[in-house]
Amino acid sequence: MPHETAILAPDPAGYARAAELLRQGELVAIPTETVYGLAGDARNDRAVAEIFAAKGRPHFNPLIVHLPSLEAAEKIAVFSEAARQIARKYWPGPLTLVLPLRPDAGLSDLVTAGNDTVAIRLPAHPVARALLTAFGGPLAAPSANPSGKISPTTAQHVLDGLAGKIAAVVDGGPCAVGVESTILALDPPALLRPGGIAAEELEAELGLQLPTGGDAAKPNAPGQLLSHYAPGAAVRLDVTDPRPDEIWIGFGPGCGQAALNLSPRGDLTEAAASLFATLRKGDALARERGVATLAFAPVPESGLGRAINDRLRRAAAPRD
Ligand code: TXA
Ligand code: MG
Repeated sequence: MPHETAILAPDPAGYARAAELLRQGELVAIPTETVYGLAGDARNDRAVAEIFAAKGRPHFNPLIVHLPSLEAAEKIAVFSEAARQIARKYWPGPLTLVLPLRPDAGLSDLVTAGNDTVAIRLPAHPVARALLTAFGGPLAAPSANPSGKISPTTAQHVLDGLAGKIAAVVDGGPCAVGVESTILALDPPALLRPGGIAAEELEAELGLQLPTGGDAAKPNAPGQLLSHYAPGAAVRLDVTDPRPDEIWIGFGPGCGQAALNLSPRGDLTEAAASLFATLRKGDALARERGVATLAFAPVPESGLGRAINDRLRRAAAPRD
């Protein structure tokens, strides 16, 4: 299993090599518009088992299946008319739909962790799309980080966590959205994870209020595991008055004294794009200065702010 992890360029030769490795059941980290994903052939039990092993991910936590088209998605999941309407509007893009699994989908059971539903998305990133086309099948891809740690938004972040454990990473530069996809269940409608598409937008489209799904104790809502995105340092939230022994991470123009700022102009899109890289920088700074805590300024709980605050609350949660 140990590998020298190859760094592949986002060009036809890189796509061909990545597709070849994937066909052999190897793992390749790929850029998407949200975060880098750790991709493997979703039909191959061994490849999918390797994804869980490389991440140290618990097997009850199912994976998202990435596909190039709605047509391909309809071969994996059962789409209601409502699901099709949402898919047409938001795909390709940072939205994952949880839908009934088709019995003839041909996926490894490990992908769905034995559930009768499957999480599907069509990524918008041109490199992800080129790779899906070159590979020609469904790719299971969780975020390409060790389980419970900070998600990767550059190829270097992937290597920092997984070098030597995966065959290759395709370097597509930094991810534009920066937080993972929004996960939406439709039967019944529920927001399983806030993410790159604002919940308010989906609510307006569906004409209803989305209950937040998920119960930490329930394996069918595994994304709700509390501690996640954990840096080495402790994390304190809603801090407007940091202590001298903390690294203050600001949001907006009111945080002039902050060591780092998610968005000096207070823009949520910019803050989401910089969130995970800033967590990593804050952690490195904390180590350098021998400081134990990262203190985050408040971020508004609307639009992409919901996804940002969700990730920060998990980063701050007690760890086992
Ligand atoms: O933006 C993203 O979604 C990224 C990129 C790589 O596509 N992927 C990602 O995967 O965030 P991961 O594994 O880190 O998160 C997938 C989430 C988990 O919380 C998992 O529990 C949930 O999706 N999930 C997968 N299948 C599910 C299902 N059938 N029902 C409910 N939740 C599911
Ligand atoms: Mg993840």
